[in-house]
Amino acid sequence: MGEYRQFIFEKQTAIVDKGTISCAAPSNIALVKYWGKRPVQLPENPSISFTLDTCHTKTTLHYQKRTAQADTFEFELFFEGVLKPTFKPKVQNFFERIVDYVPFIKEYSFVIETENTFPHSSGIASSASGMSALAFCVMELEQRLCPATPASYRIQKTSFLARLGSGSACRSIEGPVTIWGAHPQIPESSDAYAVPFSGELHANFKQYQDTILLIDKGEKQVSSSVGHDLMHGHPFAKERFKQATQNLGKLTEILTSGDVDAFITIVESEALTLHAMMMTSLPYFILMKPHTLSVIQKVWQYRQETGSKLCFTLDAGANVHLLYPANEKESVKEFIVAELVAYCQKGQYICDEIGFGAKMIE
Ligand code: PMV
Repeated sequence: MGEYRQFIFEKQTAIVDKGTISCAAPSNIALVKYWGKRPVQLPENPSISFTLDTCHTKTTLHYQKRTAQADTFEFELFFEGVLKPTFKPKVQNFFERIVDYVPFIKEYSFVIETENTFPHSSGIASSASGMSALAFCVMELEQRLCPATPASYRIQKTSFLARLGSGSACRSIEGPVTIWGAHPQIPESSDAYAVPFSGELHANFKQYQDTILLIDKGEKQVSSSVGHDLMHGHPFAKERFKQATQNLGKLTEILTSGDVDAFITIVESEALTLHAMMMTSLPYFILMKPHTLSVIQKVWQYRQETGSKLCFTLDAGANVHLLYPANEKESVKEFIVAELVAYCQKGQYICDEIGFGAKMIE
């Protein structure tokens, strides 16, 4: 725990018996990718992402003070209204990781109700939005126990806790652009939590669009934890971590200058590099599908023919995220319907755009 002592909950100033907290937390899409971690959930390189909006998790936490002292956690978990004992180990693991920082979670019994706005097992990572939503609820409970907690501390600690659930989740608390991982040119950046991009986001990037093409909804062959681990001893790891740090430095300048062409080069290169790391690890694996490559070819062709600023990025899966400026919304939509829907499983895609992070809901 050592250096993160500032996040240990100390002083309860209010009595809280029972209540309910509901929040919504979005997914995010990395522009410079995090791939490779060291214990516990610390990144080997800094990453930067757009916070999304439409794709989010809604979580309600019902809490009730337990009558007897106990050394275990007490909770039930409902996903889309159905009791899900199979999801419990993930939450149990999360609680174990955060309990030193929020010891009061042992004093309550919880009922957690959660649902996603995007289709289950669509290949869209639900861990980022799911873990950030749960972290947000836990921190709201902390706030009720100690109402004087400053907002800045609360936001930072929410991101810190979310990271312990799933690395990339720490980038979903705020928006529209967040950075996670210490970077030499960004003094406020940290391996322990994400911080918002402090520069002036150029108008070209405001309301940037992300349309997610659902290419393959199958279960991933490789979990992201296993993927991160394969960066240990990876022949290109050292160079890759250096490159990510450099790309992040360049990208923060681009986000201020508004140079969309330079943005495209870095973002597409980062996506392909992420997958190149997977293809060159031992064991090696390929998460892209033939349709992923067809879409990429089509995007390049479209850009060449029309001068559009449309580009793609990828997560650890086959789905393609199409990123483009808001003023191309209509034309890109036409292009997707005419040329790309055929590559989507059951013709499915999700229209999203950059958003502003987790928030309380009624
Ligand atoms: O947060 P995790 O452990 O699921 O890792 C996510 C890694 C990528 O989505 C592939 C890249 C990123 O930075 O989000």
